[in-house]
Amino acid sequence: MKSILALSVVLALAVVTNTAVVKGPANVNLGFTSSSDKLLFRQYVYQPAIPNSVQYQDVVFRGNRSTRITAIYASEVGYTQYASVRVLYGGVGYQNVTLRVQSAKGYGYYYLIDIWGR
Ligand SMILES: *[C@@H]1O[C@H](CO)[C@@H](O)[C@H](O)[C@H]1NC(C)=O
Ligand SMILES: *[C@@H]1O[C@H](CO)[C@@H](O)[C@H](O)[C@H]1NC(C)=O
Repeated sequence: MKSILALSVVLALAVVTNTAVVKGPANVNLGFTSSSDKLLFRQYVYQPAIPNSVQYQDVVFRGNRSTRITAIYASEVGYTQYASVRVLYGGVGYQNVTLRVQSAKGYGYYYLIDIWGR
């Protein structure tokens, strides 16, 4: 997939022991794909559990000037670890999106993130 070369991803991990953190839904299913859309980005995001801690990570997808994101799917892989994911910036209709993946306290997370667009 040569279009991947034009795109960049930033992954940053934070660990917080305080539980005063906003929790999003378990999965994200936004937008629709049509036959003219392509899979622009696919990434597995995994983090093992740390006792007594909430961990989160921001996944940033940046398209080029002509990119339009049409769908964003983020789902937990395997059994649930009560993790959550939400859109922080950008999203469907934009050229970029920032997703925050967040663990439950004392758990890890394992997500598959797919971003479709044209
Ligand atoms: C811009 O991104 C789109 C995917 O959104 C890709 O199909 C296209 O080739 C890219 N254009 C350039 C100039 O890199
Ligand atoms: C997303 O794209 C907009 C322009 O459409 C830009 O202003 C913004 O800084 C970008 N955000 C990220 C996280 O790349």
